[in-house]
Amino acid sequence: MSRVAVIGAGYVGLTTGACLAHLGHAVVCADIDAERVDRLTKGEIPIMEDGLPELVTEGLESKRLQFVVGAANAAATAEFVFLCVPTPQGDDGSADLSFVEDVAREIAPVLRPGTVVVNKSTMPVGSTRFVQRLLGEAGAALDSIGVASNPEFLREGTSVRDFLHPNRVVIGCDNPEIAVRVSELYKSLDAPILVTEPASAEMIKYASNAFLATKISFINAVANLCEAVDADVREVAMGMGYDNRIGFEFLHPGPGYGGSCFPKDTAALLHTAQVAGYDFSLLQGVIEVNRAQHERMIDKVRRLAGGSLEGVPIAVWGLTFKANTDDLRDSPAVFVVRRLLEEGATVRCYDPSGDERAARVVSGSELVADPYEAVAGARVLALLTEWDEFRWLDFARVREAMASPALLDARNLLDPSTLRRLHFVYEGIGRS
Ligand code: UGA
Repeated sequence: MSRVAVIGAGYVGLTTGACLAHLGHAVVCADIDAERVDRLTKGEIPIMEDGLPELVTEGLESKRLQFVVGAANAAATAEFVFLCVPTPQGDDGSADLSFVEDVAREIAPVLRPGTVVVNKSTMPVGSTRFVQRLLGEAGAALDSIGVASNPEFLREGTSVRDFLHPNRVVIGCDNPEIAVRVSELYKSLDAPILVTEPASAEMIKYASNAFLATKISFINAVANLCEAVDADVREVAMGMGYDNRIGFEFLHPGPGYGGSCFPKDTAALLHTAQVAGYDFSLLQGVIEVNRAQHERMIDKVRRLAGGSLEGVPIAVWGLTFKANTDDLRDSPAVFVVRRLLEEGATVRCYDPSGDERAARVVSGSELVADPYEAVAGARVLALLTEWDEFRWLDFARVREAMASPALLDARNLLDPSTLRRLHFVYEGIGRS
């Protein structure tokens, strides 16, 4: 059992803390938000994440998981300090490390000899050394404090499963003894452990996210071409996926990728390339295809509405950036709602997460708590997120409620022939 501090109780920190406690470590999880800490101490989980409430309750009951306010309070007694604070996108696309800097300065004076500071948040190449320098400048004894990169590969919605059953654990550290100590935290997991130079570990994270984003933009571009040549992208993706070198995953076309990771990390990697003097035009193309894909959804809705969106009532199902999360950050669906409003449509939205923050994010539209209420009087229904519950709704009832039964299925979730039998005008992505 090791004593671990986790700084930041957001999506990454909370999962990391709860899972490390589940693996038997004594974890103190710190956040700057006192109200959040108070709620977490009572076992109230502020985010929607499958399996997380159970692990937090287990950790609280076993006393292997505690929550405190302030990074220094957690770091003072820790053998390992995981930095899990946000690294948002700066104005020029680069990752903004100001939260990391604040935490490094706060914890430096209290770190005990032998403590290892671990960068878990996604940080650009060079950040392990940057954190080391910051700690030194802020008074940490660098001859006895280790720093390592240990990037996370957690997907929202399945992050507990991803943490406990990882494809790999990557540790970037140029001191082999420290790398071994970090790897021992994960020794009960059945996963390959890859120890690299810090810069390579940092690059693995960005390159992985950029590659997955590339797959998505590629299949979206193929889907658009399928529409032009009367092919069906679902069949194309399946035929490609059977090739082991390609695989089935991340070949689902849609409104473009979103969320707190891919848009930010692709922009940051592009910025790294620009600073390094490398013309990463492939990645630039991936980002451009993604932007155009968001906009393509507006074109489709406009067409379904008969050519203009001015004054047209539109229903939207699904606002989060993907299903099974309550996260609205950089959601393609939110982009679509805002653009529809800009074009003069009146928009009524329903989202299964029931998150009240959605009302603020899509202000100007109406947020309702029932999918049938959302479609009442609508001329077009846009299904923008692949929540499973949408499959099982009563589409005869939906058709009756709508002013005209036109449907954009931006996730290819529904069966077009069933809907056409119900007299819907159905439009998917890349399906003839
Ligand atoms: C992503 C990565 O998958 C994780 O490995 C990584 O740890 C995480 O970013 C991060 O850097 O923290 P996440 O953003 O939670 O995870 O979501 P994904 O499931 O990867 O989906 C990202 C976006 O791509 C969503 O908008 C989703 O709808 C879209 N997507 C995904 C598609 O449009 N098609 C697909 O086939 C797959």
